[in-house]
Amino acid sequence: MATELTHIRDLTAEFPVLSREIGGRPITYLDSAATSQTPQVVIDAIVDYYTNHRASVHRGVYPLIVEATDLYEGARERIAAFLGSTPQETIFTANATASLNLVTHSWGRTNLDAGDTVLVTEMEHHSDVVPWQLICAERGANIEYIPVLDDGKLDLDAYDRLLERQPKAVCLAHISNVLGTINPVAEIARRAHDAGAIVVVDGTQAVPQIPVNLPELDVDFYAWTGHKAYGPTGIGVLHGRRELLEEIPPFISGGHMIKQVFEESSTWTELPGKFEAGTAQIAEAIGLGVAVDFIQELGIDNIRAHELALTAELLERFADFPGLTVHGPLDPADRGALASFALEGAHPHDIGEILGREGVCVRTGHHCAQPLMRRFNLGSTTRASFAVHNSSADIDRLIAGLHTVRATLQL
Ligand SMILES: Cc1ncc(COP(=O)(O)O)c(C=O)c1O
Repeated sequence: MATELTHIRDLTAEFPVLSREIGGRPITYLDSAATSQTPQVVIDAIVDYYTNHRASVHRGVYPLIVEATDLYEGARERIAAFLGSTPQETIFTANATASLNLVTHSWGRTNLDAGDTVLVTEMEHHSDVVPWQLICAERGANIEYIPVLDDGKLDLDAYDRLLERQPKAVCLAHISNVLGTINPVAEIARRAHDAGAIVVVDGTQAVPQIPVNLPELDVDFYAWTGHKAYGPTGIGVLHGRRELLEEIPPFISGGHMIKQVFEESSTWTELPGKFEAGTAQIAEAIGLGVAVDFIQELGIDNIRAHELALTAELLERFADFPGLTVHGPLDPADRGALASFALEGAHPHDIGEILGREGVCVRTGHHCAQPLMRRFNLGSTTRASFAVHNSSADIDRLIAGLHTVRATLQL
C-alpha cells in the first residue's frame, strides 16, 4: 500500500542534493541512518554565519563577536529545550563518538575500579563499545553484554540477572542502527538506577526519528550526533545530569574551559564550558540549531508518523520479495525508520553496487556493530533507512532495484 504524505509536506525540493542525477538517474537516498541530507535552511544558516557574523565566540565584546556568541548560545538553548534538557547540561562535541568518549574518560576514569562491571548491549555501535573496552582495560574493570533475543529485542530477563552483579554503568542505544529496535530506555534506566548503576544512552538514531524527552527517560548521559539529524558534520551533543557533570573532571583541556590557570594547577569554568575546550564548532552548532528548528517546524510526532508508515510499507513489500529476510523486530511500531536485510544468494556488497548504479543509495557492511553481526552469524547486511523527504516512490525504486539485483546475479 502506498504511503500518503499525510503527515508531512513534500520536502524533496528542500534538500538540494536530491535534485541531482547520477548516471542519468535521480538519487533515491535511503541512507539517512548513516548520514542525513542537509536541508537548504541549514546550509543557509551556515553560509550566513560565514558571510555575515564570522567571529569567535566568548572571546571579546565587539559587536560581531556578540552576534556570533548569540547565534551559538541560541542554538544550544533551542537544542536543549528540544529534548527537555538545559543549556548547562548540553555540551557540544565533535560527534556521538566524542560524546561517548567524554563519558568514558571523565566519568569512567574517576568512577571505575578494579573488578567493577560495565554493562553494554550486544547491539551497540562500536562507538559505545570500544571506548568502554579501553577504559575498562585501564581501570581493571569488566564488560558484560546484555544479550539480544532472536527477534532483535534485548533479553530483559538476562539484563535483570546481570544487574545482580551490581554494575557501575549500563550503556545502550536508544535505537539500534542495524536492527532498528527501539529499546525501552526508561524501564532499563529505572532498573539500572535501582541497582545503583548510571545509565549512558547512545541516542544517535533516535533524536531525528522519534520524540525524545530526557526528563521522562531519566538517564544520566545521552549522546547524539548532528549529521544524522539534518545538521552539519563535525558536531555532536552530550547531555549529562548536572550533578555528575559538576563532579567529574574535564576530558579535553586547554583554552576556554578554565576559570583560573596557575603555574601548577587550574580551576574549571561553569558548565557547559568546562567540557568545551578550544575554539568551538561555531558554524556547526549554529547549523545544528537550525536543523532542530527544521525538525520542530515539521513536528517530531509527524516525522515519526510519516517514517513509521514508510517502514510498515517497506516491511510489507519485503515480506513478498523472493529470498529476502529482514533482521530485527517485525512489528514496525517496535523499530525506527530503517531495515537491514539479507537477500539469499547475493552479497550485500554486490547489492549495494548494483543498487548504486540505479541511483538507489543504501548502506552495506557490518555497520560498526561487529559483536551484533557475530551474534546473528552475519558478515554484513544491506540497510535501507528513511528520512523526512522519503516517500513510497523511493520504496518502489528500491524494490525495482532489488529485482535488477536478482536479474543481474541470476538468482
Ligand atoms: C547508533 C549509532 N551510534 C553512534 C554512531 C556514531 O556516530 P558518529 O560517527 O557521528 O560519532 C552511529 C553512526 O553510525 C550510530 O548509528
